[in-house]
Amino acid sequence: MKLSLVLMIIILYEKEDMIIKNGKTIHLQGKNISYIMFENENRDLLHFHFGAKIADLDYSLKKQEWEIIKKNFATNTFSLDSYPQEYPAYGWSDLRSPAYQVVNGAGNAVSHLTVKEYIIHQGKAAHIPGLPSLLEGEKLPDTLEVVMVDNLIGLEVSLFYTVFDEYDIIARNVSLKNNSQSDMEICSAYSTNLDLPQGEYDMIHFAGSWTRERQFIRTPIYEGMSAEAENARGASHRMNPFVMIAEHSANENFGKVWGLSLIYSGNHSSNVKLDELGKLRVRQGINPFQFKWKLDPGETFFTPQSVMCYSDCGFGKMSREYHDVYRQNLMRSKWADKERPILINNWEATYFNFDEEKLLSLAQKAKETGVELFVLDDGWFGKRDNDRCSLGDWFVNLEKLPDGLKGLAEKINDIGLKFGLWIEPEMISPDSELCRKHPEWAIQVEGRVPVQVRNQLVLDLSRDDVCDYIIKTITGVLASANIEYVKWDMNRDMTDMPCFGYNHKYTLGFYKIMSAITSAFPDVLFEGCSGGGGRFDPGVLAYMPQIWTSDNSDAICRLKIQYSTSMCYPVSAISCHVSASPNHQCGRYTTLKTRGDIAAMGGYGYELDITEISDEETEEIKGQIKRMKKLRPLLLRGDMYRLVSPYDSDYCTWSVVSKDKKEVFLMSARVSAHTKMWDPKVKLVGLNRNMQYRDLETGEVYGGDMLMEIGIKMKYPQGDFATVIRILEEVGI
Ligand code: DGJ
Repeated sequence: MKLSLVLMIIILYEKEDMIIKNGKTIHLQGKNISYIMFENENRDLLHFHFGAKIADLDYSLKKQEWEIIKKNFATNTFSLDSYPQEYPAYGWSDLRSPAYQVVNGAGNAVSHLTVKEYIIHQGKAAHIPGLPSLLEGEKLPDTLEVVMVDNLIGLEVSLFYTVFDEYDIIARNVSLKNNSQSDMEICSAYSTNLDLPQGEYDMIHFAGSWTRERQFIRTPIYEGMSAEAENARGASHRMNPFVMIAEHSANENFGKVWGLSLIYSGNHSSNVKLDELGKLRVRQGINPFQFKWKLDPGETFFTPQSVMCYSDCGFGKMSREYHDVYRQNLMRSKWADKERPILINNWEATYFNFDEEKLLSLAQKAKETGVELFVLDDGWFGKRDNDRCSLGDWFVNLEKLPDGLKGLAEKINDIGLKFGLWIEPEMISPDSELCRKHPEWAIQVEGRVPVQVRNQLVLDLSRDDVCDYIIKTITGVLASANIEYVKWDMNRDMTDMPCFGYNHKYTLGFYKIMSAITSAFPDVLFEGCSGGGGRFDPGVLAYMPQIWTSDNSDAICRLKIQYSTSMCYPVSAISCHVSASPNHQCGRYTTLKTRGDIAAMGGYGYELDITEISDEETEEIKGQIKRMKKLRPLLLRGDMYRLVSPYDSDYCTWSVVSKDKKEVFLMSARVSAHTKMWDPKVKLVGLNRNMQYRDLETGEVYGGDMLMEIGIKMKYPQGDFATVIRILEEVGI
């Protein structure tokens, strides 16, 4: 029976081993996971288990926990404070941090939800108005909706749980409806609340900054302690909306890990608190800081979706679950499963200083090396010769490009390359025609001078007229020439937000625009960007299947950034470019080989003045591109294994193995030079033990068992920043 969700309503008095009368157990099952909740006699919804699969669906009904609850009911000492819950309320018996807070028209903030009904939506994902979420893709989910009510304050809350029988994933979102006669205010509404049992836990979060995004940070959680991974700046390099909760002993391949990834591009919070009994409450959702939402009578508010994953084999297994579900059930683009063109981008080659002749010379040389797409970055519009003007003026600068975008695209196409374009649609320069015409379209507080970052202001996407203007203008630009790729940038934190909750309104506007534009151009490959990797999140991935990972293009800095980005995001989403040496951001010298090997991880391209390189380097680039064209189907669809962490050592190794285990890509980097005797053997993971693999470079053949149990010695070139790539294929392929 292909049923991923099993709802059991068990009338206990009909069973011999009954513990509670009329008890109800709900058991969600994924591929290897069980999620169990139950309803008590008060119709409270209590959490029981999220972890490895429990075969016995009656499990919770037979054990001692029920005896205790029953006893507590009998003695009238029952308190929700000591029970794990699904969606805890504020102010009524559970004194821990709540999953939501509302204040009704009478000023009443205390709430208590009880179960009204269960609805099963078979073969359906939860569709969230205005927000991206997991879709029915090839893999069909079921969704459980638990409707809960607080009749005293007139609140109805639906908890949605979407579950797939092919994944170890439960995706959750919540809606809150005002059933009262007066206005209601939502002060907080998390998407997920997960109460984990007594244990020893670490939190892993992904913090960083511009050019140092998503660093892997692991913190033990002690009694009484809370920890929060939050962002309140709009798009931000500082915190990713993904956390893992791991047992102290868990690592890449062993141990229990719970993951929470929020499909949301606005201000977010993931936080944990360990109570005095050693139990952990984990919440993820919209950041309550700077948030408030007014609900008119009859109105409903929807939270974004939080995608929970459980792995009993460490971070690696969890990452591969996220990669699969995001590739197959999140990304809407045709390009999600399509091989991406190898590109050249002119940004680090020219910055703002280019004309058509220069661009065509870059394109011509790139074509000779095997590049397939030319991307024109910032500086092609208005009077934009620097970052001090023209955002919003999306008409071509005819001094730089006399034949316009259409003419340039035709010339690039004549060279034999596709043409791609950079835009930053959410922004406005004070020095722009748009701002002179519509100064009120910039986000600002009346009477205050708005803060400029990179000389620019943010357009007010909470306004329909502004969203409509952006959709119309950008649609016009993209239709004006043969544009087959778009890099969608966003280059500043948000300030001057006029009211609490504003960032959510902005985020809804952002999704409205992205959705309209990407669906109007379904054949175009869209790449997300935000000053590098400032908005690398599943909300963007829903519309744009790859994201520029970081403005730091230095290969060695990229080891840590790319390694930890892969904890949640698939290789195909991680855009990597080979840039010049010395590197423009940090000045490091590295070989072309090192830069090409480390960039060989995802969306691959070049971002340097290719007209300036030597004949020898040209030949080397030709070889790199040939290799990437062979590797890209594997990198697009394969399983990623992280083998040696750059956070724990001076080495970094990752691999990608095809689903049928016949092809293997391995990249290993050694940061500082050593003598050969110190270089480690790398043990591969995820191969077929019984297959024979041939190393395509050396012709040597290894058994899968040997590669996994004994490993292979890496033959790094001498010197610092040395890398090795090995490609292995099953003998006979
Ligand atoms: C920030 C991006 O990350 C860069 O790649 C480049 O597109 C600049 N913006 C252009 O202003």
